[in-house]
Amino acid sequence: MNKISGIRACVFDAYGTLFDFASVLGRCHEVPEAQRGALSTLWRDKQLQYTWLRTLQGRYADFWQVTGEALEYALESVGLTVPGLHARLMALYLRLPVFPEVPAVLRELREAGFVTAVLSNGTPVMLSAALEAAGIGELLDAVLSADAVRQFKTHPDVYRFALDSLGVPAEAVCFQSSNAWDAYAASAFGMHVVWCNRYGQRPERLPGAPEREVRTLAELPGLLNPLTAPPDGRPGTLSK
Ligand code: 2OP
Repeated sequence: MNKISGIRACVFDAYGTLFDFASVLGRCHEVPEAQRGALSTLWRDKQLQYTWLRTLQGRYADFWQVTGEALEYALESVGLTVPGLHARLMALYLRLPVFPEVPAVLRELREAGFVTAVLSNGTPVMLSAALEAAGIGELLDAVLSADAVRQFKTHPDVYRFALDSLGVPAEAVCFQSSNAWDAYAASAFGMHVVWCNRYGQRPERLPGAPEREVRTLAELPGLLNPLTAPPDGRPGTLSK
């Protein structure tokens, strides 16, 4: 299969793609083991639903607020009323572990001359806390938060914001997400997309078609043709 050509920037979703959010509950011993799976799934599902619903309604609230409100809903739904638990789970969200292959992949891409960036719904504070805790901040040229445009993915403004910030056209971006809905939307927007299907999800029936599907990001560098000419400096106005 041909490699993907013409890429200058590799842009990554954060939660589920770089950061293992599903591990939060495993680190919280106050939640009975039997309830962890249900709570984690409900929290994430509600968090995403709230982003989409607020975007539809034009009633933006930042991802920290949405994540907190989704957690309130999820804790109430599973009947967990332990004092302080909400705050402790939210604090864990600020220092999620990265998936094991992530540091080496980011390093390899940068050494090959690609710009590396995060494009996430997370607020700048959430993202910088998580990147710092994971020790990978130095491996990213740009950290781009949807908060800058006060919309959530899959609104096209968010993907456009990445192009404007990096100063590259859509066809020069390879976007990676483990969230199928995000991968399909970025593809429909015009970016090259590698869907990191960590959880063996079924293909979406939505606009867009990711060009490649991988199980971990370790496969990514091998899918990209090296830059043909040295980049004329790292493109665009990078915000970090
Ligand atoms: C993100 O990082 C929500 O995983 C999604 O934007």
